[in-house]
Amino acid sequence: MSKGQNLLNWIDQRFPLSSSLKSHITEYYAPKNFNFWYFFGSLALLVLVMQIVTGIFLTMNYKPDASLLPGTNVSVAFASVEYIMRDVGGGWIIRYMHSTGASMFFVVVYLHMFRGLIYGSYKQPRELVWIFGMLIFLCLMAEAFLGYLLPWGQMSFWGAQVIVNLFSSIPVIGPDLSVFIRGDFVVSDATLNRFFALHVIAVPLVLLALVVAHIIALHEVGSNNPDGVEIKKNKDPVTHLPKDGIPFHPYYTVKDVLGVAVFLIVFSLIVFFLPDMGGYFLEANNFIPADPLKTPPHIAPVWYFTPFYAILRAVPSFAGTQVWGVLAMGAAVVIIAFLPWLDRSPIKSVRYRGPKFKFMLALFVISFIGLGMLGALPATNLRTVVSQILSVIYFAFFLGMPFYTKNDVGSVPVPDRVTESTTKMKINFAIMVALVVAGAYLFASYI
Ligand code: HEM
Repeated sequence: MSKGQNLLNWIDQRFPLSSSLKSHITEYYAPKNFNFWYFFGSLALLVLVMQIVTGIFLTMNYKPDASLLPGTNVSVAFASVEYIMRDVGGGWIIRYMHSTGASMFFVVVYLHMFRGLIYGSYKQPRELVWIFGMLIFLCLMAEAFLGYLLPWGQMSFWGAQVIVNLFSSIPVIGPDLSVFIRGDFVVSDATLNRFFALHVIAVPLVLLALVVAHIIALHEVGSNNPDGVEIKKNKDPVTHLPKDGIPFHPYYTVKDVLGVAVFLIVFSLIVFFLPDMGGYFLEANNFIPADPLKTPPHIAPVWYFTPFYAILRAVPSFAGTQVWGVLAMGAAVVIIAFLPWLDRSPIKSVRYRGPKFKFMLALFVISFIGLGMLGALPATNLRTVVSQILSVIYFAFFLGMPFYTKNDVGSVPVPDRVTESTTKMKINFAIMVALVVAGAYLFASYI
């Protein structure tokens, strides 16, 4: 026996190394018909690791201190970010990787969630995979919000001011709650210190634990696939392995490398040529030091929060309180967690669903993108009305689901075994993408 084998035996007698690698990688049987939508889980893992590593290096030079440098209106925190950008060796690339990573995390996770939606991956027996996913999504939103305060620029300061103030509209406990969150009566040095602590350790720990739980839960029940066929129901009588399954390694490790390569090309193009992404990834106002006496004329959150922010603004304030808007915004996020119980259809994949689901799904995509675009713009009367219509559509997609999914069967029956993706499906998908891009362009130029 080789020395390496001896060492492995020694470890295996004390820790389940080989058996864990087998059950999660080399002998984890995944459906053989995964398409590009299945890249985004591993890409989310990649971005998570990248954020943690770049975050550790940023922490070595960043200072969470809101006090002003003598004779200036620039805080120590803001100056420490400038120092990282200009003086720390490689600091600029670490910072741009981290800021680009934040937005790309949401790009990847939104696509990952959308895959779950079109293939019914939240349905029985994967309800817990979905719930863990939703908890991850909540943590991710908290993590991004907390991190955004750290550079202590105008948008950091005023964005935090607006969002924390929303909590004060909650009846009875609201005002005390917002003081508790800030640690002060205004957003201040105390707020910056606690947001830093939560951003660098508390939330990432929870996030990591949830991601582990997410993957363990998935591997317990097995992956879904673009046909929504349960491969465990069709096993080889001799080997007892799913007939439509292939080992995750080497097949999907190799496939995922392709996804990683394409992702890293896009990621590098942004980091090197367009790190602010025209104001969508890094807002112009945040290159100005925070000034508590000067409110920026237009305060908007970063793009990944804008669909929910548009819902908040769409609800008019009654009797001077914004509480209904806050509730609607919260409900818009939480309702996604209930999909496993809202969807009554026995069919998982959109490929075999009926016209009602497909129609509602298209409306949902339009409402989500439309709200995202509107939430980034200053409010006008027309935009408010459009936001209200889109918000109604957004909620109708979820609340109407128990009804429109009940007897909605497509023209093609669900197959017993997984299928190969046909040319027709690929053409349909290309048309759909072209329509969404063209629609978004027209919408943006008229609204
Ligand atoms: C840090 C964020 C996340 C990471 C690292 C992550 C990771 C993964 C990985 C590696 C897989 C298996 C590969 C794949 O199916 O693509 C997976 C599957 C899945 N994830 Fe996530 N995930 C994250 C967030 C989410 C969120 C926010 C949701 C939904 C709310 C979600 C729902 C699912 C579902 C339903 C599956 C099973 C899909 C299927 O089998 O068709 N995940 N996730």
